[in-house]
This record gives sequence, C-alpha cells and structure tokens, in this order.
Amino acid sequence: MHMTQTPPIFDRMTALADTTRSRMLLVLERHELTVNEIRAVLQLPQSTVSRHLKVLGDQGWVVSRPEGTSRRYRMTEKLEPSVRRLWHLVREQVVATSAAAQDSRRVQSVLAHRRTRSQKFFSSAAGQWDRLRGELFGSRSDILGLLGLVDESWRVGDLGCGTGQLSELIAPFAGNVVAVDDSAAMISAARKRLASFDNVAVRPGRLEALPIEDGSLDVALMFLVLHYVVEPELALAEAHRVLKPGGRLILVDMMPHDRQDLLHEMGHVWRGFSEEQLSELLQAAGFPGARYHPLPADASARGPTLFTAVARRAFAARPHELDADATGSPAPFALSA
Ligand SMILES: C[S@@+](CC[C@H](N)C(=O)[O-])C[C@H]1O[C@@H](n2cnc3c(N)ncnc32)[C@H](O)[C@@H]1O
Repeated sequence: MHMTQTPPIFDRMTALADTTRSRMLLVLERHELTVNEIRAVLQLPQSTVSRHLKVLGDQGWVVSRPEGTSRRYRMTEKLEPSVRRLWHLVREQVVATSAAAQDSRRVQSVLAHRRTRSQKFFSSAAGQWDRLRGELFGSRSDILGLLGLVDESWRVGDLGCGTGQLSELIAPFAGNVVAVDDSAAMISAARKRLASFDNVAVRPGRLEALPIEDGSLDVALMFLVLHYVVEPELALAEAHRVLKPGGRLILVDMMPHDRQDLLHEMGHVWRGFSEEQLSELLQAAGFPGARYHPLPADASARGPTLFTAVARRAFAARPHELDADATGSPAPFALSA
C-alpha cells in the first residue's frame, strides 16, 4: 500500500496557525526573554505561555538556554528557506495588528525593567534607588506630588467620575471640582467618598448633555470613559462648551487593542482610540492641535496600554487682532473656534 508522507512544513504551519503563538514568535524573533517576561508582554497566565512555548519548541520555532535560575527563549535562527518564507508571510500579517503594537510597547517596558535590574547589580547606590523609593514611599509618590502643578484657582470637571477617585485626588489642590456621572450607583459611591470635601459638587448627568454652565471650567478630565460613549463627538463638543477659552481637556483612554473580552464583559463600545482617530474627533469638536502621549506600560497591569491626550479650547482672539470695521473701530469681541 502506498503511504502518503506529510511534508515537514505542515507541522511548522500548525504551530503558526494560532494568534498567540505567532505574536509570541514575533516578539521572540527580536528579543530573548524569560517565561515571566513573555507573560508580562503578552499579558497571559504563565501556564498558557509555557504551553504555547512547548508547541513552538517541539516544532522547531523556538530554542532556549539556561540563565541563572531561569531560561531564556528566542526564535531559532536555523530555518530552512521554505520555512523562513512561511514565517515572513505570517509575520507580515501579525505585525500589522494592534495586539502586536501593544506587545512591542510592553517589550520596551520589560527590557527597561531588566536594565534597571542589571544597573542595580552593577552600581549599588544608583541602582538601588528606584526600588528603595518604591519600598519607602510607594510607586505613585512621584505622580501624586505632581498634583502640586494644579492651580488653586482652577475649577475642574471630572466627567464620567465613577466612584470619584480622580476628584478625591485633585480636590485638595484645586479651587473646586464638579464630578458628573450617569450611573446612580457610581454617583452614590462618589458622594460617599467625597463627602468630606466642601469644594466638590457631585452631579448626576450625561456626558452628552453636561449639567455644567457654559465656559466655566479651567480643566475637564475624561478618564477611561470615552470608550463607553456611543457618540464621542457629542461628549467632546460638550466638553468644549463647558471649558473656558484656553481651558484644557485631559483625556485618558486605551490605545487600539483587540481584546474582545473587554467588549463583552465590561460593555466597552470602542476598542481604544488611535492618535489619528482621536485628533479627528477633537478637531471636529473645536480642539485643534491636541497632543497624544502613549503612557509607559505597567508590567503588572492586565489591561491594554493607555494614552493621555491634552487638548485646549482656543483662546479668545484679542480685539486688536480682529478686523477693524468701516469706521476704523475694532469689530466686537469674539471667540475664535
Ligand atoms: C470605567 S469608569 C471610569 C471612572 C473614572 N473616570 C475613573 O477613571 O476611575 C467609566 C464611568 O463613566 C460613566 N459613563 C459612561 N458613559 C457615560 C455617559 N455617556 N455619561 C456619563 N457617564 C458615563 C460610567 O457610569 C462609569 O462610572
């Protein structure tokens, strides 16, 4: 009887026909990482990482070597030409996904962490400081201290305030805070948390029709809320309406990602926002020239990478910059944008 032999490349294909494994290989093509580091980059449980690594190892995609008490994994360099062509084809597809973009950001933070560790090893005092600082004062003391940048005259809007964490942080530094949310449960939790502040007003309301007066805020905060808003352009137009000329909108949200579970389990409407998408939305709402900053990935966080965007409502044009009318007197004072 004639036996058909399976071409060896079929085995190699099985290993690649899985999004997680091909993402893993993309990372291991450029970096040699431990299981723990791969776990932090791909945001997967250690057992899942080990299982995928085993498949990739068994089918000749990945090799490892011991280092100290752990092992480091990388993609093998010895690939036959046909297998290499297969990988290039798959890589071309994987590299274009938002998951791969997120992975590559997290690799940078994992490598930075490794560098800190080796610095610690080689130069005692400077290398010890980051760890010691965290141990003595906690990991947020730098950011919390920077709240001193908030001016005591500012009126701040915490739009989509949830349980009021941001309002609680900023209230001791700002003039006053108005916190808005449309969930009765969140409003009641925020009221409880913020009860001791006499400069905080908690108001039920929707981002699309804010219960805030025109041109009354110095700063509007929208943290982790825009991805819930079906028509973000309405919420941004409202933020523009309630800000003073020159007032700032600070937005924190997720960068584009492909985490289906967040849509299903947490009711997210948007899978993050790219710089281009957000600047178009902001521009349309009257905020020109917004800045978009990816936030450094936190290796202990399970969610997608965040960005912060800062936009300003345009200042009023000064009277001498406006066209003079026929009588030579300046045109009436007007707001630009
Ligand atoms: C994920 S929580 C974030 C809370 C808070 N900003 C924080 O950073 O901790 C999102 C909040 O936005 C509120 N929210 C979502 N869509 C809203 C809308 N259209 N109008 C007002 N609040 C909204 C939800 O009720 C929820 O409290």
